[in-house]
Amino acid sequence: MTCLGVIGGTGIGQLSGFVAEGQRQVETPYGAPSSGVDLGWLNGRDAVFLQRHGQPRSLPPHRINYRANLWALRECGATHVVALNAVGGIHPDAAPGSLVVPDQLIDYTWGREHTVDEGGDSPLIHIDFTWPYEASLRDELLRAGDRAGENLRDGGVLAVTQGPRLETAAEVRRLRGDGCDLVGMTGMPEAAIARELGLPYVSLCMVVNAAAGLGDEPLTLPAMKVHMSRASEAAARVLAALDLTALAAPQRR
Ligand code: HPA
Repeated sequence: MTCLGVIGGTGIGQLSGFVAEGQRQVETPYGAPSSGVDLGWLNGRDAVFLQRHGQPRSLPPHRINYRANLWALRECGATHVVALNAVGGIHPDAAPGSLVVPDQLIDYTWGREHTVDEGGDSPLIHIDFTWPYEASLRDELLRAGDRAGENLRDGGVLAVTQGPRLETAAEVRRLRGDGCDLVGMTGMPEAAIARELGLPYVSLCMVVNAAAGLGDEPLTLPAMKVHMSRASEAAARVLAALDLTALAAPQRR
């Protein structure tokens, strides 16, 4: 039995096509998640949905309780997690409005609760994070993109910055020099905590602006929202086409 967990990013208050039959408030060892977890179906398949920034939105990227969110999704039955991330595009092919499935990341965040390893008597957790996104779920996401008729760019390095401010042009030049193709604020520690909890996890990035210094449009929320609404509709169609049944059940930690 599989169940898709979706983490909604900026601009995704509700996942288009998701039919909610209820909401569950989950207590976790790490405190409260961003909101209750919506339980329901996507395209007739079991799915659960959590809005990362809260409902209504109240949490900036550095205030999100990533540990509680992932714990709550797992507690509500999620066997696989697709995270939706609004990002800026650095690579010329990552144009505003496009969807990218990154295969790597670089973590520039600081001061966030970034692990479920609390020391003490609990076993040491040194996850293998060479490939931060789970390969078979990534492949299935790309196949779902094909089935949905959406053009997903396969691969790219996501830079995860602290925010909530956007970057300077010089910072983006540095990120490009580091090999980054995309820049967002919420990809970490989420991806690492999912790995620690044994949850297969991938990111579907929605490019909502050209990164600072690279585009002509102003870096304002209204300008980003135009791309966000198109990209989030496309992302929802991709998620509806996902078929997890052929994927291995995860090993729960
Ligand atoms: N930088 C960081 N995070 C973002 C951006 C950006 O340009 N756009 C959307 N989230």
